[in-house]
Amino acid sequence: MTTTSHDILPAELEDLVKLFDVTPTDSPTPDDEREAALAAPRFGTVFTDHMARITWRKDTGWIDRRIEKYGPLLLDPATAVLHYAQEIFEGMKAYKHADGSVWTFRPAANAARFARSAHRLALPPLSVDDFVGSIAALVRTDLPWVPGGEDSSLYLRPFMFASEAFLGVRPATEVEYLCIASPVGPYFAGGVKPVSIWVSQDYHRAGPGGTGDAKCGGNYAASLLPQTEAQENGCDQVCFLDSATNSFLEELGGMNVFVVTDDGAVHTPELTGSILEGVTRSSILQLAADHGREVVERRIPLAEVVDGLASGKVREIFACGTAAVVTPIGRLAGGTFDHTVGDGEPGELTMAIRTELTDIQYGRVEDRHGWLRRLA
Ligand code: COI
Repeated sequence: MTTTSHDILPAELEDLVKLFDVTPTDSPTPDDEREAALAAPRFGTVFTDHMARITWRKDTGWIDRRIEKYGPLLLDPATAVLHYAQEIFEGMKAYKHADGSVWTFRPAANAARFARSAHRLALPPLSVDDFVGSIAALVRTDLPWVPGGEDSSLYLRPFMFASEAFLGVRPATEVEYLCIASPVGPYFAGGVKPVSIWVSQDYHRAGPGGTGDAKCGGNYAASLLPQTEAQENGCDQVCFLDSATNSFLEELGGMNVFVVTDDGAVHTPELTGSILEGVTRSSILQLAADHGREVVERRIPLAEVVDGLASGKVREIFACGTAAVVTPIGRLAGGTFDHTVGDGEPGELTMAIRTELTDIQYGRVEDRHGWLRRLA
């Protein structure tokens, strides 16, 4: 399970935020336009007025910590990321609590994963301090953009890419780190209702020794054709199997997956190197264990799940991630099977976990694991 290894205290956070030079936009979004965007946010469609940015060069290291106007990037057509996909990202959220304070969830875990992804993609590591400082500086600058509605939050997208204009295949000597922010409601347009899953038996997302456990754009690009195939088969999302044997559940591409059995145990695919180590995943494992549930990280054969759906041994299946939080799965289909999960309605445990997690994130219950960090 991921644990938070670096806690940043409020006083230290003030010092980190001060490292960012803020140049306010000369064309802020009018209040009425912003309020309209906040009233009905759709995932990833509207962005705040500013973005955080830090530049890296091989000879200087990380320099020019700044908050600047949100806007297009000017890129040379030879920019390395456009050719060789040397890029990583993270997904996080800022939550407004009832007293108006703004918090984020386990930022050090995302910072640590970002550093691991950077290592795998031969990008320079960004320190936890710069990662968290950039987020806090951006959220403070764009504070009016944090929505207050139920299930709404400010989605944060830190990312890093090879910005050097060079076509040779080697790690870039110039890199940009940015964080952008977007007010969001539920990830799926239908809100919290069960999604249907197509298990891809023809395509894989990642393989042993590949980049499956790094959060890099290429993994998501590889999921798009199978995702289209899922939709052609009447399903919302695709689930991938391991590439070595084509028989064990891995993940949905943008979300981890959990299975609940009739004995109340909670199972999720173990981290084999080709699965992303989700922060939501590890938090759910902790919450389930807190409630005395048996939590099992293991290789889960698709055949066992399909049989379990037919026999009733598998009671609930759900997906999880920062964007989708906890999303019930109501149907699991593939080339030779098509099963409703339970009665097709959101599972009881699925929704209990979702409620407990969001209650912690929105400050409605005690944060007993110290997962929240105040940003503003
Ligand atoms: C997230 O859950 O934040 C993700 O990164 C998944 C997806 C939106 C790409």
